[in-house]
Amino acid sequence: MAGASPHSRGVALIGSGSAQAAQVITNHQLGQRVETSDEWIRSRTGISTRRVSSPDQRLSDLAADAGRSALEMAGWSANSLDLVLLATSTPDDLFGSAPAVQAALGASNAVAFDLTSACSGFLFSLVTAAQYLRTGAMRRALVIGADQLSRFVDWDDRRSCVLFGDGAGAVALEASDDDGLLGFLVRSDGARGGVLNLPAIDSDAPLADDARHRRGGYRPIEMNGQEVYKFAVREVPAVLECLLERCAVSPETIDWLLLHQANQRILDAVADRFAIPRAKVLSNLAHYGNTSAATIPLVLDEAVRDGKIQPGHLLASSGFGAGLSWGAALLRWQGPA
Ligand code: UT7
Repeated sequence: MAGASPHSRGVALIGSGSAQAAQVITNHQLGQRVETSDEWIRSRTGISTRRVSSPDQRLSDLAADAGRSALEMAGWSANSLDLVLLATSTPDDLFGSAPAVQAALGASNAVAFDLTSACSGFLFSLVTAAQYLRTGAMRRALVIGADQLSRFVDWDDRRSCVLFGDGAGAVALEASDDDGLLGFLVRSDGARGGVLNLPAIDSDAPLADDARHRRGGYRPIEMNGQEVYKFAVREVPAVLECLLERCAVSPETIDWLLLHQANQRILDAVADRFAIPRAKVLSNLAHYGNTSAATIPLVLDEAVRDGKIQPGHLLASSGFGAGLSWGAALLRWQGPA
């Protein structure tokens, strides 16, 4: 394995990849199901289409495809990986889908596990993987954000179904003397968690004569959109501001704002708060909607492959969502050697 000296304390972002769900669903199609319109959805969210997995497309397939494309960009063999970390709230298997991804990739030397933190999952996973690399315990990690919220969306609830889509994105991370994670802040507030949930079903069943058990299963997504919106426009600028101050970085030096893709109005509000020109705000909401843990690596990969993000560029990233959970990271893209 190439890259770092035994005492390196940094992490470098070397490669990115992504994978799309098979079906494109338009606003017009949603209008056939619920009372909504293309005009309402586009003006309130910025979303025109979203991707929805076909019934035979598993979460682990999407995640493995994204991971494979990040490995290809990095020029790494799968068996050089020490860690496969899968951020998801929608595993194929509640015991974890990362091992299935590890097997599909042939990453036989890597430990693989899931991390669940809704739409903050990728950011939290990136930071988590970086800790293993910084301590010298590991050298190479593949961090994947993948979600299939289409399995849990209430397709008859117009207040939430228009927002979400499926997808996967990945980043190849390596221990390095040249640090690409300049700083981070991560936050949780479970006391406010009731505004966005994918809750377990509340029902029980007989187990024996004098015992009952709680049944497994989940209800569809429940969301108070206005409260989530207020949370996002309050906390995302605050956590970014705190991080920029801590790292002594001024907003003008940021090349790209790499935010969780939830609503174009949220992206614009954050950019305006820091007087960052709209042209520096990465956005692919129009085509994908909110793919939860996948949004940040998906839009990152698109921008890298479009040639927007160049080696050395400074990225201010923030993820936020259910939990409530949120955080920010200041990243420098290195790219493949
Ligand atoms: O990762 C985090 C995931 N969640 C989010 O990011 C959600 C953040 N919140 C939002 O993005 C916005 O709050 C929404 C897009 C969900 C809603 O936009 P809004 O501007 O906050 O609309 P609203 O909830 O205040 O609703 C305004 C009106 C209501 O009608 P009345 O009561 O004024 O007659 C809604 O019933 O719009 C109605 N409405 C719709 N109309 C047509 C709500 N959803 C729809 C719809 N089509 N899909």
